[in-house]
Amino acid sequence: MNTPTYHRFDTIIVGSGGAGLMAALHSGKEVGTAVVSKLYPMRSHTGAAAGGIAAALSNIEDDSWENHAYDTIKGGDFVVDQTPVEILCREAVECIYDLEHMGLPFDRTPDGRISQRRFGGHTRPVPGDSSKREPVMRSCHAADRTGHMILQTLYQQCIKQGVTFFDEYHMLDLIMVEGECRGIVAIEIATGRLHVFHAKSVMLATGGFGRMFKVTSNAFALTGDGPAIAYRHGIPVEDMEFYQFHPTGIYRLGVLLTEGCRGDGGIMFNGKGERFMETYAPNMKELASRDVCSRSIYEEVRAGRGVSGKDFVYLDIRPSTINKYKSSPIHRDGLEVDDHFIESRLSESLELSRTYLGIDPLKEPMPIQPTAHYAMGGTPTDFETRVLRNASGEIVPGLYAAGESACVSVHGANRLGTNSLVDLVVFGRRAGKAMARFAKENDFKPIPKDAAAPTKKQIESVLSKPRTEPWIRIRDELQTVMMDECGVYRTAEGLGNASKTVAKLKKRYESTGIQDKGTVFNTGLLEYLELGCLIDLAAATVASAESRKESRGAHSREDFPDRDDVKHFNHTFATKEGDLGVKIDTRAVDVIYVEKDGQKVPKYPLEVRKY
Ligand code: FUM
Repeated sequence: MNTPTYHRFDTIIVGSGGAGLMAALHSGKEVGTAVVSKLYPMRSHTGAAAGGIAAALSNIEDDSWENHAYDTIKGGDFVVDQTPVEILCREAVECIYDLEHMGLPFDRTPDGRISQRRFGGHTRPVPGDSSKREPVMRSCHAADRTGHMILQTLYQQCIKQGVTFFDEYHMLDLIMVEGECRGIVAIEIATGRLHVFHAKSVMLATGGFGRMFKVTSNAFALTGDGPAIAYRHGIPVEDMEFYQFHPTGIYRLGVLLTEGCRGDGGIMFNGKGERFMETYAPNMKELASRDVCSRSIYEEVRAGRGVSGKDFVYLDIRPSTINKYKSSPIHRDGLEVDDHFIESRLSESLELSRTYLGIDPLKEPMPIQPTAHYAMGGTPTDFETRVLRNASGEIVPGLYAAGESACVSVHGANRLGTNSLVDLVVFGRRAGKAMARFAKENDFKPIPKDAAAPTKKQIESVLSKPRTEPWIRIRDELQTVMMDECGVYRTAEGLGNASKTVAKLKKRYESTGIQDKGTVFNTGLLEYLELGCLIDLAAATVASAESRKESRGAHSREDFPDRDDVKHFNHTFATKEGDLGVKIDTRAVDVIYVEKDGQKVPKYPLEVRKY
């Protein structure tokens, strides 16, 4: 292999989704900043968060950041760190106006303010009866292309700011020296050449790892490279057992139909034509949290009430249906939903259904099933986005993370829809500012001359091994076992099976090589290396799920159906031990206390979670 090319930047950001771009913008205002990404920015998964970004602007209904914080904590089934949640919900408002001023084309209310829609789990006290809650319009949107619009807006701003982009450069290693992060090694996809990026600080913003599951909304690139590579360097992953299945994926394909469909009045029906969410969430119905909706769909299917006895139900956004149930917020104003209303607010969903299902949602309901969508867990950070080395909270100097690849723990056991976009702009901005400060206060520290040697060795080993089986088969088997045994429902037996299967797959993975031995656009090599990341993270996910012997949020143990706040009101930290061993530690949940009647009491007391 050729001698690696050397680069030096104050700040290197790995990943060009919303978190990476927001960080790049804020770091780039102050210090030399580069973004290294295996994708072009517009292809990042941020684009899949379609329906909106949450912020209590009170543009349509009275709301407050405190309402937002309460919903986020309850939505996460209480294993949510409360200080970062309050930061998230307070700074959300400011970030939305920042995005607006950067030119993000939000939809508007008739009087010109940013339009907001309903989303699952977002509520406010009912005016006049604060003992009850009702859905609130909190999600700011640009039709159902909000994530795409965020990417475009931030990318333009980064270009204006002079941020350097290395598109289609795939990170393969972190340069760790004396426990500090001092750069990364990446491969240039077009040529196979290695590049060493020497930096004062590095940020992981590589997104999630939904490709671990068979049915997923995630694009091919979502393989958890950031958390997996850090994990191999002894940095833990937090709360891996909490993985979100979004209720409305297109049947069999997993492609996402935004929750905005339900926010604007869409209704789910079982095979008997029943609006089944009335049974599972009598108050919020289709606007219950995602974990509740996904489990409800599975319960219907298990009871034989899927459509035609199959494993899907219907999502219906026909105006006639929405008007019959008066489920859209505009019915309150005496208005009716028509085709134009749906076309203007949900055009992407209409397009996806017409393209992938051949179904026009204005005329027919769409077959849907839950789809693996979002990792609540990831590389642990504090609320300044500094990566944690262990459950005691020690920092890894020079390493930052934000967005889906990170776990600042604002989503706990289940994220609310539209809280992903706000997470990545709020904590992306914090990361950019923190890294710029760090760069100003610190000099470059030396890195080894042969910093790329381990990566070179790794690639040479893959290319020199004989191909004993297609690695795609190994990936298929991984996705199947994770979907079947570590998906929406889990048991000790199933997880035990998953653990053994992942270990066997790892052995098979390590013993096979690949077909293409070339250097130019060797996507086989890169997908093989991505599979290695998925396998390591799958082992951590299964071990974390085995350790949590309770049901909470998206983690449903059929053998432990109740939440256990005595044993499990905590976060899990999974650390790699040996080849496939995983050590599990726990860390206390950050709880805010307030003074009441002379006593310190939790500001957000634990409660039974019902919708
Ligand atoms: O359904 C959606 O539009 C997805 C949003 C999200 O994941 O936050």
